[in-house]
Amino acid sequence: MERQSISNQFIYGGDYNPEQWLDRPDILARDLEMMQKARINTVTLGVFSWSTLEPEEGVFRLEWLKEMVDNLYAHGIRVILATPSGARPRWLAEKYPEVLRVRENRVRSLYGERHNHCYTSPVYRQKVRIINQKLAQTFKDHPAVILWHISNEYSGECHCPLCQAAFRRWLKQRYQTIDALNHAWWTTFWSHTYTSFEQVESPSTLGDSGLHGLSLDWMRFVTAQTTDFMCEEIRALRQAGATQPVTTNFMEDYIGLNYYELAREIDVVSWDSYPLWRYQSDSRTALNTGMQHDMMRTMKHAPFLLMESSPSSLNWQPVSKLKKPGLLLNASLHAVAHGADSVQYFQIRQGRGGFEKFHGAVIDHYGGEDTRVFREATQTGQALQALACVAGSQVSAQAAVLWDTESRWAMERARGPRNEGLFYHEAVFKSYQALRKCGLNVDLVQVEQPLDNYRLVVVPMLYMFRAGIEERLRQFVQNGGTLVMTYWSGIVNESDLCHLGGTPHGLTDLLGLRSEEIDALCTGEVHHFTAGPGAPLYTCRNLCDLVRLQGAQPLMTYTDDFYKGYPALTVHSYGKGTAYYICTDAEEAFYNDFYREMVSRTGLSPILPHLPEGLEVSSRQDSENEYIFVQNFTDEAIALPAPADAALLFGDFSEGKVQGCSTVVFRQKRS
Ligand code: GLA
Ligand code: ZN
Repeated sequence: MERQSISNQFIYGGDYNPEQWLDRPDILARDLEMMQKARINTVTLGVFSWSTLEPEEGVFRLEWLKEMVDNLYAHGIRVILATPSGARPRWLAEKYPEVLRVRENRVRSLYGERHNHCYTSPVYRQKVRIINQKLAQTFKDHPAVILWHISNEYSGECHCPLCQAAFRRWLKQRYQTIDALNHAWWTTFWSHTYTSFEQVESPSTLGDSGLHGLSLDWMRFVTAQTTDFMCEEIRALRQAGATQPVTTNFMEDYIGLNYYELAREIDVVSWDSYPLWRYQSDSRTALNTGMQHDMMRTMKHAPFLLMESSPSSLNWQPVSKLKKPGLLLNASLHAVAHGADSVQYFQIRQGRGGFEKFHGAVIDHYGGEDTRVFREATQTGQALQALACVAGSQVSAQAAVLWDTESRWAMERARGPRNEGLFYHEAVFKSYQALRKCGLNVDLVQVEQPLDNYRLVVVPMLYMFRAGIEERLRQFVQNGGTLVMTYWSGIVNESDLCHLGGTPHGLTDLLGLRSEEIDALCTGEVHHFTAGPGAPLYTCRNLCDLVRLQGAQPLMTYTDDFYKGYPALTVHSYGKGTAYYICTDAEEAFYNDFYREMVSRTGLSPILPHLPEGLEVSSRQDSENEYIFVQNFTDEAIALPAPADAALLFGDFSEGKVQGCSTVVFRQKRS
């Protein structure tokens, strides 16, 4: 496999805001010294630095930044340089109020906070363009600058008149005629027919919030407009001569944007990971976080960057827990195991004031090296150096779970069987975690991505079929793949119009069944299903699909209510492959048992032949080697049969055990 990395070593560092300390050269000098001690090789500069870079309109002060970059470089530290659009200077909002966002209730925001500008405003775009070009002109050839960090955590939406007009233009492009829009949004219902595009208003609690086609297209527009804004930022850099790759940092499970669309326009995916460690079992938190890592990796099928994480506690949750000893290293290597080519923090040095003064940092207010966090950050830097050969290697997965943001938008807005929650994320996670427990690498693919290279594809709750997914799933099974589909799939088309003629749309012959009705359970209500007397009895909740078999074999049946005896799990052969259908929101134990058997039946090859409970395994590979990461997020040492023909590359494997809260890495020659 090709190495695809922006660096031949792991990037280690994080957000650094020296502009807060320009009057303290002693502190800036100390920072450099401490960064070197911690093995930090890269820092992210310029996130939110606009008012220091352009204190007055048209007055630019880039000297401090240039000096800083030169100085870092002289100390062997490289730079990821941010464009400053994530927070604007006060003067900009004062002079040009159109840059301020209008909320869905049509009230314009005051100046304040961050991440809240209008993405359409020509003034905002122009001002961002100018400052981006200044940065690019200054740093396009600087050897320290390895990557551009475009803005910060793009998010949110604006309902101002400029955005309304842009939305209407976007709709005109999409539908061409108002009749086509009326059909797609089914506006004859409740007499909502539009006679012109000019009548369209973004969704609002003051107006339409239940016109599902409108809401869905609005979400698509917000993604398109944000992407367009980002592309304009990138263009500004390129036109000024910058050639370094670009990224933008994504967030965990953020559903305001379809990240796959943004990912297409950047060179490398990066994200900010802030798990709630020590809230529940850390093994479980790791599984949850691993799913996000895998999603980020699958967006480009390439190594991603862990752009932010906390060296210690957070400060924005109701309760901010410390990372216990060892957890910083373990969580950092967890990202690496899943395909990250970096470990980066928010933040290198803690600020003295402002919203994030108590957020964890490599260097705290005390400022010395003799802190637990600094020691552990240094150990983490050393570990990444020891593992340098892994940087740039790829992750290869035989199994994929399908994830679709657009389908989720539609499903969660629709009024249907359960308005108290459909639990899409949870449904995806249930299959994901079970496959991970089987010792498999897992990709999180979205509907437009190819499926051919997998042996198993899981499609949980894919309410919306679009982009020809039915046909591609058919081909996949036809050619010998194993498909697992669940309840509440293939219900609507890409406009959120219900499919006629039976669901899951277009796949009833492949699945050998038709979903006839779906029952919803009240919150807390539990039903059961089983393979028969003596077999395990599993619980299920929320949704129970009542299917009519048309060739499929029932493997398990419901045991409660009027549909006692109806199928709860089915299987059907099709072409050279097999299709399973899970009818209900089953408990995790079911998924664990189901996939364990499936893995052995379909000949999927787990990374290790036997994975002891409590351990997580992941692997990365290059043309010669496979790197096997075995991670323990429990407190107890766990015995592990060492992988055959593998050498220990990293970690404490004394007595054949993976110690509590630690990682071991093996290197195995690929045959
Ligand atoms: C986000 C932001 C950072 C910082 C951290 C704090 O990820 O990008 O600027 O606010 O959260 O956890
Ligand atoms: Zn706007």
